[in-house]
Amino acid sequence: MKFTEIKEKEDQFQVETYAKMNIAVERGSGAWVWTSDGEKYLDLYGGHAVCATGHSHPHVVKAIQQQADKVLFYSNLVYSEIRAKAAEKLVSVAPDSLSTAFFCNSGTEANENAMRMARMAMGREKVITFTGGFHGRTADSISATFLGKYRAIGRPNVPGHVAADFGDIDSVKAVADRETAAIMLEPIQSMAGVREASPVFFKQLRELCDELGIILIFDEVQTGIGRTGNWFFSGSDLADSVEPDIITLAKSLGSGVPVGACLVSEKVAKNIKVNDLGTTFGGGMLAMAAVLATLEAIENDTMIANAGYVEKYLRDSLGGISNVVALHGKGCLLGIEFDGPVGPIHAKLLANNIITGTSSDPKVLRLLPPLCVELDKINMLVEVLSR
Ligand SMILES: Cc1ncc(COP(=O)(O)O)c(C=O)c1O
Repeated sequence: MKFTEIKEKEDQFQVETYAKMNIAVERGSGAWVWTSDGEKYLDLYGGHAVCATGHSHPHVVKAIQQQADKVLFYSNLVYSEIRAKAAEKLVSVAPDSLSTAFFCNSGTEANENAMRMARMAMGREKVITFTGGFHGRTADSISATFLGKYRAIGRPNVPGHVAADFGDIDSVKAVADRETAAIMLEPIQSMAGVREASPVFFKQLRELCDELGIILIFDEVQTGIGRTGNWFFSGSDLADSVEPDIITLAKSLGSGVPVGACLVSEKVAKNIKVNDLGTTFGGGMLAMAAVLATLEAIENDTMIANAGYVEKYLRDSLGGISNVVALHGKGCLLGIEFDGPVGPIHAKLLANNIITGTSSDPKVLRLLPPLCVELDKINMLVEVLSR
C-alpha cells in the first residue's frame, strides 16, 4: 500500500493516540527503518525507546521464531523452561539485592505492581513521586505522574499520591513519614526533558527510606537494560551505588515484544503470597524468549559499552553547534537542549531522514537510539544539525 492509503485508513479506523510522523514503517534492521514508499530512515528514537537491540536483531528474531514453533503461550499456572531461563538471566544482570522477578506486559503495569507490593510489604498506603516524573497511564501510575496534564487525564485519581521536587531531598523530607509505603522515581526524568539529579540525591533517598521504613522504587522503564551505559541505573556510579528495593522495567526488555517486569528484593518478595499478584499474559513463553534473547544480544554484541561511546561522541561533537545549549542524560538516553523550540529542528531532521524525539520541554530534543548504533550514524545527525 502507498503511504497516503495507509494514512487514510489508520486515521479513519484508529482512535487518536500520538501526533504521528508522516511515514509508515514497513521493515527495520539495526538503526535503520524502511518506509512503505521504500525510503530509508535513521532511527535515533529506537522505535519509541523500545528497540535497544536495534530493529529485528537476528538473534532475537530467531529466538521468537523458534519459540513460536514450540508453544506461543501458557500462563504462570504452569512452569516453563524458557521462563525459568529468562528470569535467571534477568536476575543475574541485576544489582545483587534484586533477587526475583515479576513479569507483566508494560511499564505502567510494572509500576502499578511495584506500588502494590510496597503497600503490601509495609501495610501503608501513601506513595511519594516527583514533579516531572512519568510512570504510565493506568489509574495508579497516572496518579503517580506529576508531569504536565497526565494526572488530569487520569481523573478521578487514586488517593494517597504526594509529589516532591526531583533532586531536592528537603522537599522529600517535608512529605515523607511513617505512613509512606514507597518513594518512586525515574532516576533520569526522560519525558520531562532528560532531567538529572546528582548521585548524592540517591544516597540521601536511600538513607531516608531506611530511616522511615519506606520502599524505594526506581522506575527504570527507560533507563534500564543497558541504556545509560550500565545494565541498570540502580547500583551504578550514577546512583552512587544505591540499590532500590524494586526496579521496574519494560520498553527495551523484549526488543519490541510487549513485556514488563519488576525486579524485587527479598525484603519485599517475602511479603508476597500466592494469589496476591497475577496477570494472564505476564511471563508468557513468546515474551520470555524475547527477554532472554534481548539480554543475550546486548551482552554478546557489547552494546552497553557502545552506549557510553555514543554519549562521549556526541558530547565531543556538539560543541561547535552554536544553538546547542547543553547535552543532558547518559549513554543512549540523551536530551539535546537548544536555545529555542525544537519543533522545527525535529521536523527538519525528519525531512533529512533522521527520526528523533521531542519531550515535555519544548527546547529539548530526545535521542533514544538502539544501543548498537554506530558512531558514523551519530555523525550523520551532527552533520545535519551543523547545517
Ligand atoms: C519512565 C516510564 N515509566 C513508565 C512508562 C509507561 O510504560 P508503558 O507505556 O509501557 O505502559 C513509560 C512510558 O513511556 C516511561 O517512560
